[in-house]
Amino acid sequence: MALLEVKNAGIQFGGLKAVSGFNMRLNQGELVGLIGPNGAGKTTSFNLLTGVYVPTEGEIIFNGKRLNGLPPYKVTQSGISRTFQNIRLFSELSVLDNVKVAYHSLAKNSILSSIFRLPSHFSEEKNMEDKALEFLKIFKLERFKDEKAKNLPYGQQRRLEIARALAAGPKLLLLDEPAAGMNPQETHELMELIAFIREQFDLTILLIEHDMQLVMGICERIYVLDHGQLIAEGTPEVIRSHPKVIEAYLGEEVSDEHA
Ligand SMILES: Nc1ncnc2c1ncn2[C@@H]1O[C@H](COP(=O)(O)OP(=O)(O)OP(=O)(O)O)[C@@H](O)[C@H]1O
Ligand SMILES: [Mg+2]
Repeated sequence: MALLEVKNAGIQFGGLKAVSGFNMRLNQGELVGLIGPNGAGKTTSFNLLTGVYVPTEGEIIFNGKRLNGLPPYKVTQSGISRTFQNIRLFSELSVLDNVKVAYHSLAKNSILSSIFRLPSHFSEEKNMEDKALEFLKIFKLERFKDEKAKNLPYGQQRRLEIARALAAGPKLLLLDEPAAGMNPQETHELMELIAFIREQFDLTILLIEHDMQLVMGICERIYVLDHGQLIAEGTPEVIRSHPKVIEAYLGEEVSDEHA
């Protein structure tokens, strides 16, 4: 059984079919790319998967459960986390607190125990802090833990967003252009980090990315959207030479050398 199955999903805004007839299967442990020109519907498909938009057609099955109509926090609780194309951190909160908030939505402790400050409240709080620090360590952000998120350089804010998404304990991680605005060195480190966390946390990852070198370098399969429709699906080799993909990119050569 696939971890995620999207069947003919779509959404229409007024007269615009932003995404339609979208089909996708992700198996446990896969690292899959989602590419396409600007405005193709990539972010919209993430919004469909995470409950930001309710599909006007089709269905989304995750881990055997139908997700259509669930609000975003329920989708997170069922095991899907994401990052955003435009970074969404709590800019005035510390780096550490940005990761800790991810736990609060999942925390088992009751409101009563936190109001009355029972010992279990403190132990859970301590536990969250330790776990958050572990994530910061993986993302080499530990030394910035007390810094306000807004003071981090751009590339590190992007890494912090991934750390926060991971802290929610997802099975499926959706990354929306995680390398945007990064320099080649940061992008290279990010590629290694994505491969590492997949292994370490037993993740399935769906990656939207314009950086072809990154996508072709780490994804096992790639889906290509254009004008809200899937136009191709396959291995990097298939995608690189697919006529419809080449056409969608207006003759841009989809290859590592020309990324
Ligand atoms: N809430 C909305 N209301 C109306 N139109 C929308 C809405 N969200 C997205 N769209 C439209 O849907 C289309 C797909 O947008 P989307 O942001 O998904 O593209 P994308 O593939 O992520 O592009 P990019 O690479 O630029 O991020 C665009 O035409 C966009 O203007
Ligand atoms: Mg987008």
